[in-house]
Amino acid sequence: MILLSEWNAQGNFIDFMCGSGTLMVEAAMIAHKVPPNIFREGFSFEKWKNFNPEIWENVLDETLDIKISKSDFKDKILGGDISKNAIEISKKNINNTIFKNYIDLRTTSFTEMKIPEGGGTIIIDPPYDERFKEKNVEILYQKIGDFLKQNCMNYDVWILSGNREAIKKIGLRKAKTMTLFNGSLECKFLKYEIYKGSKKNKNNLK
Ligand SMILES: C[S@@+](CC[C@H](N)C(=O)[O-])C[C@H]1O[C@@H](n2cnc3c(N)ncnc32)[C@H](O)[C@@H]1O
Repeated sequence: MILLSEWNAQGNFIDFMCGSGTLMVEAAMIAHKVPPNIFREGFSFEKWKNFNPEIWENVLDETLDIKISKSDFKDKILGGDISKNAIEISKKNINNTIFKNYIDLRTTSFTEMKIPEGGGTIIIDPPYDERFKEKNVEILYQKIGDFLKQNCMNYDVWILSGNREAIKKIGLRKAKTMTLFNGSLECKFLKYEIYKGSKKNKNNLK
């Protein structure tokens, strides 16, 4: 999803409904040019007879330290979630990577979130049905739309959702639509450009 959004590590990256924090860790990897799969457990060379785990750990730490210290990325990677439990899980996941000091987390409803100035990209995957205990998903989407208009100037915003009726409540003009599958569920991945007198000299706000 981040690659599809074309966020190229220019500007802030925000997921204000971050759940377990997957998108932020992936954004940090892109931002600091850390290769995909590096945190996976078990490479086949680890089964070699002469494999020395200590040397491998040192090589890995050294390589990643050098990468991050040389990284040009100076913008913010920020996540939030209304659920304390989700933020605890995010924290745990982030602490398992090298990005502990590079990702900010807030336990808060997005409606209270302070979006950093300077613009960038926001990607969210909001609840889309009753499994997420949302009493009124359509009202939630309407609030997301209002929040974007009022607080997220100069951001490209991408929303993944499988709820077509709720999507209509966002009330912003779509700049792009893609179809993605979350398991077997067909979802839309929608782009909104929140610019006054926009990037392309047009006002996208209705
Ligand atoms: C579908 S999950 C996001 C999953 C996430 N992309 C991941 O990788 O784990 C939706 C999240 O939105 C959060 N949420 C619901 N209402 C919210 C609100 N008002 N403000 C912030 N987060 C909210 C839920 O707690 C839940 O973690």
